[in-house]
Amino acid sequence: MTVMSDAPLRVQAVVGSLRERSVTRIVIDHVADRLRGHGAQVDLLDLSLEPLPLYNPDTAYAEPAFPALQARVERADVYLLGTPDYHGSISAPLKNFLDHFWHEFAGKLFAPLVASHEKGLTAIDQLRTVARQCYAWTLPYGVSFVEKADVNEEAVVNPRLLERLEMFEHDVRVYGDLLARQRRLDLAGAEPGYLARYRK
Ligand SMILES: Cc1cc2nc3c(=O)[nH]c(=O)nc-3n(C[C@H](O)[C@H](O)[C@H](O)COP(=O)(O)O)c2cc1C
Repeated sequence: MTVMSDAPLRVQAVVGSLRERSVTRIVIDHVADRLRGHGAQVDLLDLSLEPLPLYNPDTAYAEPAFPALQARVERADVYLLGTPDYHGSISAPLKNFLDHFWHEFAGKLFAPLVASHEKGLTAIDQLRTVARQCYAWTLPYGVSFVEKADVNEEAVVNPRLLERLEMFEHDVRVYGDLLARQRRLDLAGAEPGYLARYRK
């Protein structure tokens, strides 16, 4: 049994591959559809359609498009982070997105999805590291998938991956919601938890 809050879960789904026929995008779309079907609000950020300039701390925050993107990031309870495995690492577009933000991620949930021939474990670990640096949480696992065998040009085709994505989508909702409710309480309260420093 799960106890869900009244506020809909707000998920930002980030596609970290710029490739036109990206399998990461197909898997993100699949999970996003399921989340919407369960009442979540999903904001899709496809970095191939909304390219971000290379992060420069001197200029990034003065970019005309920055405030609107910051508001979208701020609004989210969960970040669905999709990336291809490049040299055992997350993609440059995803890292560039993550570098633009910090306190916006605090107390929220990272949920990693990695296109990889090698289980994507090092990329998943890198997302755990980013989460730790930003006082965010991660699911205790990520889901990886292989192009062609698991995902064709249109859809997820491997029944085992479909099952794993069902579990993933469930966990994103349940743990995303638990963390969101606790974050709201902590931000509104007066207890000395780690979120105290983010009170406005
Ligand atoms: C520059 C580059 C480096 C890559 N490095 C790895 C790697 O280290 N390990 C791996 O399993 N796949 C690697 N790949 C393969 C991609 O992760 C794989 O093709 C993935 O499915 C692409 O995802 P996408 O279709 O969403 O772009 C690499 C691909 C490129 C272009």
